[in-house]
Amino acid sequence: MDLFEYQARDLFAKHGVPVLAGEVIDTPEAAREATERLGGKSVVKAQVKVGGRGKAGGVKLAGTPDEAVEHATNILGMDIKGHTVHRVMMAETAPEIVEEYYVSFLLDRTNRTFLSIASVEGGVEIEQVAEERPEAVAKTPIDANEGVTPEVARKIVTDAKFPAEVADQVAEILQTLWKTFVEEDALLVEVNPLAKVASGKVIALDGKVSLDENAGFRHPDHEALQDKDAADPLEAAAKEKDLNYVKLDGEVGIIGNGAGLVMSTLDVVAYAGEKHGNVKPANFLDIGGGASAQVMANGLEIILGDSDVKSVFVNVFGGITACDEVANGIVQALALLEEKGEKVEKPLVVRLDGNNAELGRKILSDANHPLVQRVDTMDGAADKAAELAAAK
Ligand SMILES: Nc1ncnc2c1ncn2[C@@H]1O[C@H](COP(=O)(O)OP(=O)(O)OP(=O)(O)O)[C@@H](O)[C@H]1O
Ligand SMILES: [Mg+2]
Repeated sequence: MDLFEYQARDLFAKHGVPVLAGEVIDTPEAAREATERLGGKSVVKAQVKVGGRGKAGGVKLAGTPDEAVEHATNILGMDIKGHTVHRVMMAETAPEIVEEYYVSFLLDRTNRTFLSIASVEGGVEIEQVAEERPEAVAKTPIDANEGVTPEVARKIVTDAKFPAEVADQVAEILQTLWKTFVEEDALLVEVNPLAKVASGKVIALDGKVSLDENAGFRHPDHEALQDKDAADPLEAAAKEKDLNYVKLDGEVGIIGNGAGLVMSTLDVVAYAGEKHGNVKPANFLDIGGGASAQVMANGLEIILGDSDVKSVFVNVFGGITACDEVANGIVQALALLEEKGEKVEKPLVVRLDGNNAELGRKILSDANHPLVQRVDTMDGAADKAAELAAAK
């Protein structure tokens, strides 16, 4: 989960990374009071989860409260690379910036380690610096067990050639930033720019944080950081029902048990879809191991509620939960939905294999639901589901 800058700022402040005062607002008029609180001037910053806000006109210095209102009026509602600005952060103005640096920690999946990236050429896009002048970017793997000790921090500072007069401050900030990374279970913490101001003090002026949602159970406070406005309504509904659901942009609804099976179902459907007008999977939905009728009903409800879905492919490999239970689940789920007054009109293709497959298939045949078709191979079922979606 990527955070907004103001949320990153708050996390930095909580862990002791030096930041300037800031608050988030969503009306132009609130910019006036905020600017007054900040001493009469402010920086008005668009809050969108995309880079290059400054260049797009989303970061403006305001010398007076009136000017702040004017900037906030212009920035609120602005479109930055397809992201609408709903909020702006009113930040304290940094006293004369002398230098801009870059520091970050991230999970380096390719090398199975954590990585520190640091450069004295910050403020601009680091990818560009890395491409044009790779020698200006210091990359240091961080051992998960050792972490960023004073020695490691010192090495990063030396490798990135930070000027001597800021070395101690930057080393300290690196350790605090690492603590933020670890304690918040982040995948990325980035400061760009880390600015040296006229007094010699080093301050984080812009932050990017991405949190690991798999560690969400350890952080009840992270829930409040979710951007409710941006969430896909189907994904939000699925989350409420504890379903592993991801909306995609195709037409064939997919339900399966086990993430691996669902992933390969997506591939098989996309492949089969090529023959049928290029229909594609409409979603990922893993109902997991012990899928009860209720879970199946929840899953079907989400998928049938997606207006893009034209057909549904239920692909189940019976394991601990045997196929007869799944088949009963499907029959009961359809009954549950109809009881709730939700008219099921989309065709379902069901493939059952594995534990008790024969019995499961018999249950479906006996139920003889007009919308349910059984196909006993995965490829055949994918083809059928794609064909039905294309015919709609
Ligand atoms: N509080 C502040 N006071 C003074 N100047 C600031 C302040 N915040 C940002 N700036 C200046 O504005 C520039 C751009 O700000 P910032 O890094 O927050 O946005 P950005 O780089 O355009 O956005 P992104 O990082 O999303 O690409 C900074 O490099 C800095 O020079
Ligand atoms: Mg920036």
